[in-house]
Amino acid sequence: MSSAKYLSIFSPATRQQRRENFETYWEFSQRHGGQLFEDDKDLEKKRARLKHFQEDPVRLRQPLSDPEAFYRNYIVMQDDPSSLNRMTLMLTCIYKFARHEWVGIKGAWDSIPDMTRSYKVEDKISRVHLAEEFCHIRLFDEMLKTCGLERVEWVPLGPIKEKIYEQFPKLPGFLMDTPAFITELMGVTFYSHLYRLFDEILAEEPEVCQRLKELLEEITVDEVAHVGQRRNFIGPIGMEISKVLVRPFYTLFFNDIPEIKQLLDIDQMIKEGIAFDFNELPSHIIERSWVPSYCKS
Ligand SMILES: [Fe+2]
Ligand SMILES: [Fe+2]
Repeated sequence: MSSAKYLSIFSPATRQQRRENFETYWEFSQRHGGQLFEDDKDLEKKRARLKHFQEDPVRLRQPLSDPEAFYRNYIVMQDDPSSLNRMTLMLTCIYKFARHEWVGIKGAWDSIPDMTRSYKVEDKISRVHLAEEFCHIRLFDEMLKTCGLERVEWVPLGPIKEKIYEQFPKLPGFLMDTPAFITELMGVTFYSHLYRLFDEILAEEPEVCQRLKELLEEITVDEVAHVGQRRNFIGPIGMEISKVLVRPFYTLFFNDIPEIKQLLDIDQMIKEGIAFDFNELPSHIIERSWVPSYCKS
């Protein structure tokens, strides 16, 4: 549509445009996160935001009726998912999604160059990107605490899966860039569906609903920027491949989390992934985020 502000994430970009966009992303990224605290895998402005939430906690009016149903199923689903209420399913689903992210970034953090050894702008971007992802895990943890879940542990996957995740960032770009891009895209799709799910499941808990939305928005702003940033690593052939891989990747990943199909429409998420163009995102998210120049009309 001619009135649309943004273009498909799969829009073509020249090598020169991509080079320029790495520069503008890097400027954005430094402004957006503030100082990097590398030893803590943390960022100045993200840390301040989390502190703001922690110092003004919101809790459920009506505590969870059966928190043990969460603790029994959050690492591996033990019960029949259809026997669990939607609140429990949503919370175990949030944990499982975040845990995948956490495992991926933990492996990557040790295998990519640290800031003092990052000479290229792409390397600096990747380092800060990972620090942002660690901030997301803290925000997810705060979401669970908001729902009264204080005993959540972040549990590694089995040793074989952990090894695979560790090797992943060491792969050459042409193998790694496409899955890394689709993963970010999948994050944004999932978060926009989760955001709407809050309204449905937390209709009786307006304060918690509002707080979870604020926490999720803090994550989504970064993830939207990551989508463009990871797309910027990919040339024309890789973009063709990416488009074809959206469906199998989303399917594979979402099927691994049994709660998702109880809660969300996977097919709709796939369609939105393929059609993604930033236009559906609320303007207050876009304003705080970053869009590649070649996706602006
Ligand atoms: Fe993330
Ligand atoms: Fe991300």
